[in-house]
Amino acid sequence: RKILVLHGPNLNLLGVREPQHYGRDTLADINQRLQHRAAAAGFELTALQSNAEYVLVERIHQCLQDGTDFIIINPAAFTHTSVALRDALAGVKVPFIEVHLSNVHAREPFRQHSYFSDLAVGVICGLGAHGYELALAHALRHVATQA
Ligand code: DQA
Repeated sequence: RKILVLHGPNLNLLGVREPQHYGRDTLADINQRLQHRAAAAGFELTALQSNAEYVLVERIHQCLQDGTDFIIINPAAFTHTSVALRDALAGVKVPFIEVHLSNVHAREPFRQHSYFSDLAVGVICGLGAHGYELALAHALRHVATQA
């Protein structure tokens, strides 16, 4: 049973980047907590951050071979731009939750459109790093009930 967590561009800067929007936790802090929780539930969790669209697209394609059951993705700025990432997720048909640390609806208008939300099982935004943990809790349940 496998969960994949994907983090889009600039999320490697978490902890130092605009903490008023994104909080103080680093990406390593977030990934560690998720790993811990997934392992406790008997799941294997892999996390990948990339600033490059093609790396994320190719990692999503890999799900066709590696048996990934569920994806948690914060596409970051690609949320608002990437038809390619959207098509990759639609292509592999792995269920996913879209997560944003900040409440994108309370920010600039260009952040209010997502190329992902209509395909997602659900969307979590504005809850900071806790949003990933809530997404994982749901993913574990989702996979368990599908099996
Ligand atoms: C973000 C919101 C996006 O609009 C932004 O480009 C990000 C992070 C978030 O987690 O709040 O990089 O996805």
